[in-house]
Amino acid sequence: MTPNPLDDAAWWRHAVIYQVYVRSFADSDGDGVGDLAGVRARLPYLRDLGVDALWFTPWYASPMADGGYDVADYRRIDPAFGDLAEAEALVADALGLGIRTIVDVVPNHVSDQHEWFRAALAAPPGSPERARFWFHPGAGPDGAERPTHWVSSFGGPTWTRTTNPDGTPGEWYLHLFTPQQPDLNWDHPEVRAEHESVLRFWFDRGVAGIRIDSAALLVKDPALPEVPAAPAPGEHPFIDRDGLHDVYRTWRAIADAYTPPRVLVGEVWLDDVERFARYLRPDEMHTAFNFDFMARPWEAKDLRESIDQTLAAHAGVGAPPTWVLSNHDVTRPVTRYGRADTGFAFAAKRFGTPTDLALGRRRARAAALLTAALPGCLYVYQGDELGLPEVEDLPLDRIQDPMHERSGGVDPGRDGCRVPLPWSGDRPPFGFSPDGVEPWLPQPAAWAELTAERQATDPGSMLSLYRQVLALRRRLDHDAPLRWLDAPPEVLAFARGSMACVVNLGPAPAPLPEHTAVLVSSGPLAGGELQPDDAVWLALP
Ligand code: NOJ
Repeated sequence: MTPNPLDDAAWWRHAVIYQVYVRSFADSDGDGVGDLAGVRARLPYLRDLGVDALWFTPWYASPMADGGYDVADYRRIDPAFGDLAEAEALVADALGLGIRTIVDVVPNHVSDQHEWFRAALAAPPGSPERARFWFHPGAGPDGAERPTHWVSSFGGPTWTRTTNPDGTPGEWYLHLFTPQQPDLNWDHPEVRAEHESVLRFWFDRGVAGIRIDSAALLVKDPALPEVPAAPAPGEHPFIDRDGLHDVYRTWRAIADAYTPPRVLVGEVWLDDVERFARYLRPDEMHTAFNFDFMARPWEAKDLRESIDQTLAAHAGVGAPPTWVLSNHDVTRPVTRYGRADTGFAFAAKRFGTPTDLALGRRRARAAALLTAALPGCLYVYQGDELGLPEVEDLPLDRIQDPMHERSGGVDPGRDGCRVPLPWSGDRPPFGFSPDGVEPWLPQPAAWAELTAERQATDPGSMLSLYRQVLALRRRLDHDAPLRWLDAPPEVLAFARGSMACVVNLGPAPAPLPEHTAVLVSSGPLAGGELQPDDAVWLALP
């Protein structure tokens, strides 16, 4: 009998998790916006792709000032996406196909339309309603200057001044992101209790885990000092403060009290791997996104260094690593790997950066083999399995991402990786919406070549490669450690148990180690050699 994947208690140590950006996955009701019924109808596609779990970006009621990361009500589904009954049905249907669900929680901030913030604005300074946020008098003689000079993750200031009922200027409030996303005060017991209740609300509905947004930002130094030039670990006023770990210990206890236990996945952007690993101690989060690896350039030395550091840091706390090539915030790999600078940095995003998409696609195929072969969890962002490029010529008046506007129009923003998926047919909306409906972001006409329908029957397509690799991955020994094999400096070669993965990042063909079979390769093997920017999985003697 085939074992039921849902019986695997250690699933979170080796899962393939597919990220659904709901707005852009599939639109069932013809309003141009993806929805939960659209995902439900496409679950067989996800089963056939071979994923173990789905992570849904926020699906809660939201004014969408930041694509749903501005939550107005955690217990309601945004009407554009469906309703709670539809979410419950989706979770159940997915489980019926052996696929678990992870929901996004956004504890650092809420929407300015959340009832708590509306109550806070309506209440006077010093009121209990305001105590759940960071309201503060301004600096300077008449309070006209912001309380600190902290810079927003989206660029620009982090404080916005309120207006009193009589029209005079009032207190300021803190928002590490947009002004529509006021930061919560995590020193306040009601803030903690409310989030614990939200976790239970979703765990009670059968979700397998949560993805924790901006997980290293929640706790602030109440003295509100300026950011030091070179903060020592734990000294930054709003990043990686030691007090965060208590929050996640409490959440872990809540998750562990369920049968089966629920899992916590953190969005933790930190340069210091040792500090990063502290979030993964046995009584804190289960896993966190490995952004160090994601941001590295397509260079053997860089990638190997990141893999080694990642494995060592995770081994120290007994947590499985994760491998992430992209998500809804960063440039699609096909575009990024075709550029002169193949690394990723938010600050470096600019319009008009040239790219060679054929080269980028080739490398993205090889990167898929590389990441799928590494020990731990694999994340796949929707559309990467179709090899979609970043859409870099969106009409400016269609861009919704606040990063674009807040950068003064210099940063193209993140909508280029959020364009609705092409499912079928030869012209927009490519089956994303019913024919004749214009999706919320326009799809390039050239995506006719990239629809799921067309790729499904093409053995050389990115989709066929992903299906093949994920099917093979299921048969790997998940517990087999990584062992580096001898290889030229520009080649990454490692074994896990009886399989090997070889990736050629150099300019010349590379010889292959001794093997009994080629399991899968990202490109044709000419004369038994691995061509530049290709990767292969081999069965070892
Ligand atoms: C990280 C999310 O991935 C991103 O999309 C969002 O804008 C910020 N957190 C703020 O919630």
